[in-house]
Amino acid sequence: MTESTATASSATPDQGSGSAQATSLTITDNRTGRSYEVPIADGAVKASDIGKIRTGDDQPGLAVYDPGFVNTASCRSAVTYIDGEKGILEYRGYPIEQLAEKSTFLEVAYLLIHGELPTKDQFDSWVHEITYHTFVHENVRDFMEGFRYDAHPMGMLMASVGALSTFYPESRNISDADNRHMQIVRMIAKMPTLGAWSFRHAQGKPYVYPDNELSYAANFLAMLFRMSEKKFEADERLVKALDVLFILHADHEQNCSTNAVRSVGSSQVDPYSAVAAGIAALYGPLHGGANEAVLRMLKRIGSKDKVSEFVDGVKNGKERLMGFGHRVYKNYDPRAKIIKKACDDVFEVTGVNPLLEIAMELEKIALEDEYFTSRKLYPNVDFYSGLIYEALQFPPEMFTVLFAIGRTPGWLAQWHELVQDKEQKIARPKQIYTGARELEFVPAAERWR
Ligand code: CMC
Repeated sequence: MTESTATASSATPDQGSGSAQATSLTITDNRTGRSYEVPIADGAVKASDIGKIRTGDDQPGLAVYDPGFVNTASCRSAVTYIDGEKGILEYRGYPIEQLAEKSTFLEVAYLLIHGELPTKDQFDSWVHEITYHTFVHENVRDFMEGFRYDAHPMGMLMASVGALSTFYPESRNISDADNRHMQIVRMIAKMPTLGAWSFRHAQGKPYVYPDNELSYAANFLAMLFRMSEKKFEADERLVKALDVLFILHADHEQNCSTNAVRSVGSSQVDPYSAVAAGIAALYGPLHGGANEAVLRMLKRIGSKDKVSEFVDGVKNGKERLMGFGHRVYKNYDPRAKIIKKACDDVFEVTGVNPLLEIAMELEKIALEDEYFTSRKLYPNVDFYSGLIYEALQFPPEMFTVLFAIGRTPGWLAQWHELVQDKEQKIARPKQIYTGARELEFVPAAERWR
């Protein structure tokens, strides 16, 4: 960054010429009259350059105030690309539509972690590794059994993933590539086991051990639903639909839970602890819980003929149309389109969820209404996913667990990128202090006299 002295009037937008105009930002600090030229790279200025703007050598640098990181890039990432205006989502450059149609969750997981698609040998060995690490230490089972009978499955999942760090203490050696690979495999492999057991626990049913002859999604369904059968084989259409749902949730760049994984991971803690933080973030209703809210909303509306009355309530600010709108997408969420299609496949097996009719009517009315079109409010991933989960007989508390299983490769890919990124530092935002200063402390004995 270069600095020069200018008058306050030069704070007006610079009409200058030459390369400086194309690659830099000129800022005039009207407090001092000094002018600064800040380089622009990749469409961003460095916050540390802004920090060099100060009114005196002993004064604090200018800070950027951005609650919720609405306009702050916290990393460089080559994992996931989103263009919210156009409704584009790509993992490692591959459009989500193609991956959902032609790939499998484990291939997508490989792609996210390694950055490229596997060869046949790489894929076979990846699937083999994931399949043979599905079991957990018996003490994990004992630990999970200790939860209260009505424990929320997300709380159980979060705690048991965090507990894995004590079973694999070597995982804290994050600078060793082979060690990192081992923990990544273990976590992707064990997540369905832990998720399924937290579901069985709340139902008072015996935990079911993994069946390594089954595919990733089929094994998960077996651990969830098997009772006395020797072998549980779910309908292939349901297995496929669940695999597609996992693919759609596998990553979504710097969302709240991924940011939590990166932030906690930046302290160089082991990946189990970092991912447990991601699960904690996902647990919150503003992040992973919206599909449950959609279901409640559809049940409350009750029938197709009540939809327009409900929409009027939304327009009058009495309600929110859950499953609509997104911070990033200002177009149809590409994942919602794919899920809508997956609904047909699932309902072919389970029978149509009666709430689908209400959802479709809501979407039809909303997409034609000026209130929603002018605000660019379109269905998001959660609008239809709850309907599928319900048809698959999941209780609402399990919806976020399904999200967490799907998101695990994304969290790990982002964590893996973070630990190898030389530009990264421990996450430590600034604050704007608004409290009192330099008060005189009066001891309790005197204050309470
Ligand atoms: N229903 C009715 N009005 C809405 C909705 C909605 N679902 N979403 C936004 N608006 C209105 C909002 O009232 C505001 O109107 P105005 O300009 O007149 O004040 C305008 O649209 C902009 O909304 P905003 O709240 O500033 O937008 P945001 O980017 O802060 O919020 C959101 C994004 C997802 C939190 C919000 O759209 C919402 O609450 N949607 C419903 C909940 C939901 O479906 N969440 C799941 C998100 S997808 C999950 C994921 O990707 O992980």
